[in-house]
Amino acid sequence: MDFNLSEEQLMIQQAARDFAQTELLPGVIERDEHSKFPTEQVKKLAELGFLGMVVSPEYGGAGLDNLSYVLALVELAKVDASAAVIMSVNNSLVCAGMEKYCNEEQKQKYLVPLAKGEVLGAFCLSEPEAGSDATSQKTTAIDKGDYYLLNGTKNWITNGSSASTYLVIAQTDIEKGHKGINAFIVEKGWAGFDIGPKEKKMGIRGSDTHSLMFNDVKVPKENRIGADGFGFQFAMQVLNGGRIGISAQALGIATGAYDLALAYSQQRKAFGKEIFKHQAIAFKLADMATQIMAAKMLCYKAATEKDAGQDITQSGAMAKLYASQTAMDVTIEAVQIHGGNGYVSEYHVERMMRDAKITQIYEGTSEIQKIVISRTLVS
Ligand code: CAA
Ligand code: FAD
Repeated sequence: MDFNLSEEQLMIQQAARDFAQTELLPGVIERDEHSKFPTEQVKKLAELGFLGMVVSPEYGGAGLDNLSYVLALVELAKVDASAAVIMSVNNSLVCAGMEKYCNEEQKQKYLVPLAKGEVLGAFCLSEPEAGSDATSQKTTAIDKGDYYLLNGTKNWITNGSSASTYLVIAQTDIEKGHKGINAFIVEKGWAGFDIGPKEKKMGIRGSDTHSLMFNDVKVPKENRIGADGFGFQFAMQVLNGGRIGISAQALGIATGAYDLALAYSQQRKAFGKEIFKHQAIAFKLADMATQIMAAKMLCYKAATEKDAGQDITQSGAMAKLYASQTAMDVTIEAVQIHGGNGYVSEYHVERMMRDAKITQIYEGTSEIQKIVISRTLVS
């Protein structure tokens, strides 16, 4: 597998790196402290074309490859994991799914503004009683002829209040189990659609997470995605790609923390020498660098396979499983290497440690990734 980056990919990586340094870094501690959504920064991400990176220019996107998308996400996540997940949800879970599975009318109406970054999207699968067990949908959408009547609650939705367009998964025919599930495009502001308060979170505090309540919301029939009963397959296919985005976010968090720890270890002195010269610290960094390299290979491999049109069920899940564990392990060690300074916000690594944890939970927990991977091992 050839990971020699092209001129264009290197340019995108550099543009994302510059953006992260100039636009994200200055306020990242404050946004974390006050759980503040990066509104201005998201506008600038849209100007860079980063909110619809892999969508074709025909539908308002930048028409780039998935490896470029991963490179950009990593650079953002090295500095601000919240900005990275906002971008990842819009790209992977909303735009990519819509481009592949929506009809022309839906794409013109909804995808174009999303890919241009004029509005944000949200992906709404999880419910209070249906997280990992995603086929147990309690939200219902009853066919009323011209429209579906949507009722239920979605939990923990990223971009929950900042989005304008919501992809909502709901049960339309309980008898048919997961084959009786559909996906719908729902607009903010429709009667009966309410947004709950912002969740107070351990990490990724710059991103807004909300529950969503649907009470007799009329969803026009033309807003159903794909054929009747396609909703669960839609969600799974979208998540296969989304997991590459989260693996990139995790890889970015790990790399950001490692870079800071390596620099700190060469500057901080104890017992008359730089702490890097104590083998216990140097070995930690050796382990961190090795894990990061392995995570990077898995993440790039999955993105490259997606670009080649291959099935990424296994590679996406492996990348997410490994990169999220790497993010957790590396950030814990980065805090340790920083000693007391690691425990205060000014040095960034404590935030990175808190941010890392979510990568093992959302878009399928690590246990779920193992279920997905193990099912690909046997035919
Ligand atoms: N790719 C394609 N299809 C898949 C699939 C995958 N990865 N996983 C399951 N399917 C299909 C199966 O083939 C089956 O379809 P058919 O019957 O038509 O063949 C159907 O889905 C049901 O599959 P199972 O019988 O395996 O169902 P299950 O209940 O035993 O397990 C599961 C399903 C894999 C555990 C699934 O429920 C799952 O992925 N759960 C995790 C949910 C998740 O990732 N949520 C993330 C929410 S979004 C989010 O979190 C965003 C964010 O934070 C930023
Ligand atoms: P549960 O499913 O209740 O799992 C609890 C524990 O049991 C976990 O450790 C799990 O791995 C384990 N477990 C469950 N089943 C099994 C099994 N069969 N075998 C072994 N172990 C098992 N969802 C969306 O739809 N859209 C979003 O935008 C979104 N954003 C999120 C943002 C944040 C900050 C958070 C916290 C969550 C978000 N989620 C979103 C929800 C997220 O995807 C779910 O939290 C996740 O899928 C886990 O579901 P759960 O919380 O119900 O945990």
